[in-house]
Amino acid sequence: MPPSIFDEMARQGHEQLIFCHDRPSRLRAIIAIHDTTLGPALGGTRMWAYGNEDEAVIDALRLSRGMTYKAAAAGTVFGGGKCVVWGDPQKDKSEPLFRALGRYVQSLGGRFITGTDVGTTAGDFVHARAETRHVVALPEEYGGSGDSGYTTAYALWHGIRACLEWELGSADARGRRFAIQGLGKVGRRLLTQVCDAGGEAVVADIDCRQTAWAAGELGATVVPPEAIYDVPCDVFSPNALGGVLNDETIPRLKCRIVAGAANNQLADEGLHAPMLAGRAILYAPDYVINAGGLIQVAEELRGWDRERADHRAAAVGPFLRRIFELARHEKLTTQQAADLLVRRRLHDLGHIKRSYIPHQRSCG
Ligand code: NAI
Repeated sequence: MPPSIFDEMARQGHEQLIFCHDRPSRLRAIIAIHDTTLGPALGGTRMWAYGNEDEAVIDALRLSRGMTYKAAAAGTVFGGGKCVVWGDPQKDKSEPLFRALGRYVQSLGGRFITGTDVGTTAGDFVHARAETRHVVALPEEYGGSGDSGYTTAYALWHGIRACLEWELGSADARGRRFAIQGLGKVGRRLLTQVCDAGGEAVVADIDCRQTAWAAGELGATVVPPEAIYDVPCDVFSPNALGGVLNDETIPRLKCRIVAGAANNQLADEGLHAPMLAGRAILYAPDYVINAGGLIQVAEELRGWDRERADHRAAAVGPFLRRIFELARHEKLTTQQAADLLVRRRLHDLGHIKRSYIPHQRSCG
């Protein structure tokens, strides 16, 4: 636990932390608003059986900061926030709990907009929607944009093509070999795209139904989950867990590119981004290449239009190219270059807010 929550907020640059409690529904939630320079804070609600309160606070602070970077990199007009609900998603969910959460979200008047994340579903937010307008990622039948896995995979594919072009001279996936970790909502769509584009796929998933589908329907080669790091390939694509790029796995990789949708792929950014660069492996920063889901919900807030969302998601490719160019020019890791571009955008747009606008007057 940080020595003081305020110290930690100051260190990471947070604006606000809101503790939400509702005795009848047993809601215990923490909303963290990191940075609203670009607009209202946007970020999902995670439900997790944290071991204690400190873990929940730390997670809320860490995740909301990550959302600021992701939203800024994706070119959206949203800031970063996150909500964590302290509870077991298998046992503690109820309609009152999500309605109580919805009321807290509503009380923030649009400063924070939320939707699904690990442990929560679109159905949970149908309940929350009864109390607040400030929710996204609702099912299509409720006017939302539905499963964000589609746009995440779409942006990921554009990002991978940009990586192929940068590193191997052509975006063409024909004859290229991909090692795909995780065949969930994103990974299985990526696999389909790889196969449609004439690439070769080696896959791993702890769920044997997914690997059976991949082998049976698409002819993918299946390896055990632990063996995926050792597969000789052009692209290693992590689409399952965080922290998979670490001291133990990076020396085993036999790829030219790491590009996947999983969040927080680097166990330690400061150590493992240079370690990848030192092995001449091109790393597509995770929060840039996996921004498709965020782009989808940001577009939902403007009035849902699939074509416009796809267009925005495809821009991940050219943005990665900018990152790679900056990294080469400034002798930075790709992670440092991405962070730098984000900080520049926050800085430049933060400055325009200094001019006085009459209708934004806040008091008397
Ligand atoms: P998912 O939960 O649908 O799929 C994850 C898959 O990984 C499952 O099939 C699971 O069995 C497999 N898996 C778990 N542990 C594994 C292991 N040790 N080895 C191999 N496979 C393993 O998740 P989804 O939606 O496909 O997302 C994938 C990753 O991308 C997650 O890290 C998620 O946080 C991230 N992400 C997803 C977005 C989305 O819109 N769905 C947006 C941004 C990030």
